Amino acid sequence: MATILDGKKVAGKLAEKVKEKVKFLNEQKIFPTLCVIEVGNDPASKIYLRVKRNLAKQVEINEKTINFDDDVKQDKLIDTIKELNNDPTISAIMVQLPLPAHLDQSKIIEAIDPAKDADGFHPYNQGKLWQGNSQVIPATVRSIMSLLNEYDIQLEGKNALIIGRSIIVGKPLASQLLNKNATVTIAHSKTQNLSTLTKKADIIISDVGQAHLIKEDMIKNDVVLIDVGMNRENGKLLGDINFQTCLPKASAITPVPGGVGPLTVASLMYQVVLLTENQNNG
Ligand code: GUN
Repeated sequence: MATILDGKKVAGKLAEKVKEKVKFLNEQKIFPTLCVIEVGNDPASKIYLRVKRNLAKQVEINEKTINFDDDVKQDKLIDTIKELNNDPTISAIMVQLPLPAHLDQSKIIEAIDPAKDADGFHPYNQGKLWQGNSQVIPATVRSIMSLLNEYDIQLEGKNALIIGRSIIVGKPLASQLLNKNATVTIAHSKTQNLSTLTKKADIIISDVGQAHLIKEDMIKNDVVLIDVGMNRENGKLLGDINFQTCLPKASAITPVPGGVGPLTVASLMYQVVLLTENQNNG
């Protein structure tokens, strides 16, 4: 029977560490402050942002949200980001995704000062990741790597299959798994015969947003399964992996909810503290 990778437990430990770091910074009159930019009223984004706000409060990070209507002009958004870049009271900036279709996501992310890039989506930070020397790691990626580390899951020489190629998870995660000497494959929506890849994988990380895409007949015994999917179906939250049917075959598995999700929010707060520390180190 698989070990259940308890993201909530690891998140609790990380939140305590963040809180201690914030206390130490506060003693030096430094107050980590995250500014979130939200465009429109996407219901899923509203839920994520509420969770982020609650955790920020708990670890005593200041959080400020700027709301724009969903028809906001791109120039206006970029001007706001530039003002935040120059505002010494703001340590970190995050633009909640997805953005409405008329906005150029890449241009908006590129407007963020890489030193204040809470998400680690800026091309400078993503490039540094591939060189193996970045301190800015996208929160979901940091969360997955922390879970694997916390449960002593060996990566060296292992076949790691990532399903999904976003700049939020798939691509930056590949860089981190490579750093740990895993052999990395990235599958995506145009991949053919996905099950031939899943059957060879020692570790599968899925971030595609298709409920129960991965089934027990697609995996080998003792596989490690990391589920980033959050699919709402009839009011229920389902992962990309069929937890119940894969559980007996896997050696380790994340539940949904309670796996990667809660740890990602704590990882974002950790990132805010790291950025604040870097900005105040000479
Ligand atoms: N939307 C879904 N996940 C994320 C994330 O990690 N960061 C941002 N900015 N938007 C998201």
